[in-house]
Amino acid sequence: MAVVNGIYIHIPFCMNKCNYCDFLSFKSKKSERDKYIQYLIKEIELYPTVEYSTVYFGGGTPSILEPCEIKKIIRSIDISIDSEVTLETNPKTVDLQKLKEIKKAGVNRLSIGIQSFNDKFLNILGRMHNSQEGVEVYHLAREAGFRNISLDLMFSLPNQTLEELKEDLNKLFELRPEHFSIYSLIWEEGTNFFEKLKKGELKETDNDLEASMYELIIEMAKEHGYIHYEISNFALPGKEAIHNSKYWENEEYVGVGLGASGYCDGIRYKNQVKFKDYYDNIDNEEKPIFESEIIDESEKEIYKYILGLRLLTKGVKAEGKYIKVCESLMKKGFLEKNKDGYILTSKGILLANDVFDEFV
Ligand SMILES: C[S@@+](CC[C@H](N)C(=O)[O-])C[C@H]1O[C@@H](n2cnc3c(N)ncnc32)[C@H](O)[C@@H]1O
Ligand code: SF4
Repeated sequence: MAVVNGIYIHIPFCMNKCNYCDFLSFKSKKSERDKYIQYLIKEIELYPTVEYSTVYFGGGTPSILEPCEIKKIIRSIDISIDSEVTLETNPKTVDLQKLKEIKKAGVNRLSIGIQSFNDKFLNILGRMHNSQEGVEVYHLAREAGFRNISLDLMFSLPNQTLEELKEDLNKLFELRPEHFSIYSLIWEEGTNFFEKLKKGELKETDNDLEASMYELIIEMAKEHGYIHYEISNFALPGKEAIHNSKYWENEEYVGVGLGASGYCDGIRYKNQVKFKDYYDNIDNEEKPIFESEIIDESEKEIYKYILGLRLLTKGVKAEGKYIKVCESLMKKGFLEKNKDGYILTSKGILLANDVFDEFV
């Protein structure tokens, strides 16, 4: 049996909707979850039996599931012995016992949604946990035996100062997780935050402050021995996220669950976003795909640059007409060369989206 790729499993349930979030998720009842898991397993069976080398439970809040539910899903997948199995975890959903059982179920990497260590911001964000609970869950995860933990943080929060961000980062580095992801707040349409922005009750961080915040993160991460290996991701040496790196390396992966995206057999697809459509397709033994796009060679080439350049330590080898694009971006100071190919410079990292536009 060949070891291929990874599998992304979407769990579209949350205890509550955070004010800034537009991920596909709903408040759930146990009966709904039972049905969903049953269909999820049927969907997994619609994909050819392969041995997955990475499994990623994303959401929503996968840690809302009972350990036995997580175990049931993992058991339905063929995974290689040393595979990375990640579960996104909200601090409010776990205690020591549950974390131990999640580990026993086969999860070996946690990605904990901390967002901030400052209660003022956790409150504004509409998180259900306070800072102390976030820190406690991190320590409980260590006690339960997790040796690979990633923390999610956000910055550029409403009225956040550089000093407040620095305090958050100091707390993060005190904990010393193997990995962390830090995202600048995106004002997503349809969220509470977006409504407040429109009414003038909240305002966006100005660009210069946001850039200074990002530079502070990069500088402090480096001082603490973290490798800035992707635009929003930092890891201690050898602890880069294996599953997520596959996305950036343009590798194929299976995506299952409501609204999940995948890339299989040269096709990028997105699953149904309504439960009824999702269940109906699976009842008909069809993959519950909502939309799909065949990726021809020229599109594959574009993805190679716009995804590959996100990885900041691995150079992208330019070919054909893109050599000229890369050379021109290098002259403007956005790209430089390392032993494998082109990588973003510090200036290029700050303006990454403009750089990617040059390839489309
Ligand atoms: C699916 S959630 C992670 C797990 C879990 N649901 C939780 O929040 O604890 C993925 C991450 O995306 C980030 N995120 C969500 N909405 C965002 C937004 N509007 N702007 C920036 N980052 C966002 C948060 O850091 C969040 O932890
Ligand atoms: S940030 Fe996480 S917990 Fe909050 S609504 Fe989004 S997916 Fe759910």
